[in-house]
Amino acid sequence: MSNGRAREGKQKILLVEGIQPDAKSNMEAEGFEVTLLPKGLSEDELIREAADCIAIGIRSKTRMTAKVLAALPQLRAIGAFCIGTNQIALEAANKQGVPAFNAPFSNTRSVAEMVIAEIVLLSRRLGDRNNEVHRGVWTKSALGSREVRGKTLGIVGYGHIGRQVGVLAESMGLSVVFHDVAARLPMGNNRRAETLEQLLGESDFVTLHVPETAQTKNMIRASHLAAMKAGGCLINASRGTVVVIEDLAAAIQSGHLGGAAVDVFPEEPEGNGQAFKSALQNLPNVFLTPHIGGSTSEAQVAIGHEVSGALIRFLTLGSTTGSVNFPLVELPRREGSHRLVHVHRNVPGVLRDVNRIVSDEQANIVGQVLATDTEIGYLLLDFDDFASGDQMSGRLRDRLLGLDTTMSVRALY
Ligand SMILES: NC(=O)c1ccc[n+]([C@@H]2O[C@H](COP(=O)([O-])OP(=O)(O)OC[C@H]3O[C@@H](n4cnc5c(N)ncnc54)[C@H](O)[C@@H]3O)[C@@H](O)[C@H]2O)c1
Repeated sequence: MSNGRAREGKQKILLVEGIQPDAKSNMEAEGFEVTLLPKGLSEDELIREAADCIAIGIRSKTRMTAKVLAALPQLRAIGAFCIGTNQIALEAANKQGVPAFNAPFSNTRSVAEMVIAEIVLLSRRLGDRNNEVHRGVWTKSALGSREVRGKTLGIVGYGHIGRQVGVLAESMGLSVVFHDVAARLPMGNNRRAETLEQLLGESDFVTLHVPETAQTKNMIRASHLAAMKAGGCLINASRGTVVVIEDLAAAIQSGHLGGAAVDVFPEEPEGNGQAFKSALQNLPNVFLTPHIGGSTSEAQVAIGHEVSGALIRFLTLGSTTGSVNFPLVELPRREGSHRLVHVHRNVPGVLRDVNRIVSDEQANIVGQVLATDTEIGYLLLDFDDFASGDQMSGRLRDRLLGLDTTMSVRALY
């Protein structure tokens, strides 16, 4: 249990793994003392380095295990300056009242741009021509080389990335059709396909932008590839498990498909320099890239801003928007009010107990938001006035800390 008193002196934040420096300056501008280390840390190093930190920022190599969390009871938030959060013991963090934030959509434009490039590369067979010229082979020919204007692009999964691909593709003169399990508003002149099969049958290029779920595992296999137009091209920059790679290789080898661009694979090497094998290697007009769709310097900058912004909003306002393991609460700041954050175990009667204490202390609530998940409740309380300022908020806080359901209380301002 921590009383989490905010804004007393400089609160410390540790960033590791060479996180984008804008993140550090953003948080320093808000009055936090930020240490940025270039490398990832082991469990023991992390426990030592973050002993007095209220927040930690990591990327994919530093593991926030249950052991690390238990050793850092003062910790209030974790920032994952990347897309995935597998490296964080999310359940343990939730039970400890610590939200984890990530940046799932900061690199979507980068992926969309790569897909647009691949549509043109595939249509002109530029990879094969490039390889030939490097080998000293000169094949000046228009055979199998087409403009993309007037062709049809089918987008499977019309979310953050799919929609951007749709807008960009249309500006190059492609006709765009999409398929999504959710109701999605078409952008520009993009149109919805009635079924996946209809999309596959009418598209010259099919690009996949679905998440990895039980429904999308092996979603594109031999029968779907057979349903694509002869000479059509498949692009997958979503998740490796969505396409059966051997079926795709067979469809290319048979000549039914004209090419493919694949950025993600069912099994990917854990680190750079490790060997990689795929049935798609050395096939004609097939582009293979090492899961770099979202890897640009702009995306890194965007991730730095998005996650540092989420951490700042949580630490200063109590907002949990962008958290992957916490109930969502967002309450705009009301001028002249004071805010307390109360994290508690989600059992019946907590709100009644909290409100009784507030009423005993004759504090007037002007805003209150509660959200819960199975384990915890997250409550923001705004008061119009504390009779004797800090003393009053301190008394309230102490009484709330006295409840056996309370996990932490913070006075934000
Ligand atoms: N290659 C990379 O480097 C890279 C970078 C970022 C994201 N990604 C991947 O790209 C994919 C899309 O990302 P996003 O940000 O656009 O996600 P998103 O959540 O914004 O959009 C996904 C869309 O797919 C739809 N969908 C889900 N299941 C479906 C199904 N069975 N059939 C049809 N549509 C379905 C959803 O309704 C949603 O509209 C994800 O798998 C993500 O992991 C890859």
